Amino acid sequence: MPTKTSTETLLASITEDVRKKFEGEGTGHDWWHIKRVTQLAVRIGTEEGADATVVELAALLHDIDDWKFNGGDDEAGSRAAALLLKKHGADDALTETVCDIIDRVSFKGAGVKDDMPSLEGRCVQDADRLDALGAIGIARAFAYGGSKARPLYDPNVKPVLHATKKAYISSEGTTLNHFDEKLFLLKDRMHTATGKRFAEQRHARMKEFYDQFLNEWNGEV
Ligand code: ADP
Ligand code: NI
Repeated sequence: MPTKTSTETLLASITEDVRKKFEGEGTGHDWWHIKRVTQLAVRIGTEEGADATVVELAALLHDIDDWKFNGGDDEAGSRAAALLLKKHGADDALTETVCDIIDRVSFKGAGVKDDMPSLEGRCVQDADRLDALGAIGIARAFAYGGSKARPLYDPNVKPVLHATKKAYISSEGTTLNHFDEKLFLLKDRMHTATGKRFAEQRHARMKEFYDQFLNEWNGEV
């Protein structure tokens, strides 16, 4: 049997720690989200010619101590990621590269521009966004809305395109409005050609659901 390389060992140890940490999480940021994003990121990264180790590590760690669950602390995630990477023997350069991606990955409102300079980060951000689209995206949106006791829809509450991260995180809309406020915007914010291609398909599926939801709301069969 060939022995595992240090990269394989690092990836296996981080995967195991992240799986343990996220198992049983119910807000749409559970282990399976991490696993789906990692799979997609690696697939996009392969097509785009990105560094596979950086892509896989950043995808595995992208939601660790997310700022949305940390009172808006932008860097809690990368601090937690750095500790894990160091614990499992990643060198400083790799740790820095991965942590920089983690700091930049999250969606912070319709009017807040993305800032993701590295190809690897772009692959991970595309994969994370793809998991907010399509059939899975619909399921996650309603699971999130349910966890916050939000109404499915209210025709009297109009969608808002948030100009700042602060306005975005403090907003109290309906779940259907989240489609206008974030989900339908994502296909035009994809970075890679591969991500764009996948997003078009998922966007169309989601739009069909949304239109049908409103038809049924208005009494159509
Ligand atoms: P990201 O991984 O881009 O940071 P979020 O943490 O913002 O994504 O969201 C996690 C999941 O919950 C996504 O599927 C997202 O669309 C959904 N979600 C976030 N905010 C809302 C909301 N206000 N209403 C419904 N779903 C939401
Ligand atoms: Ni995510």
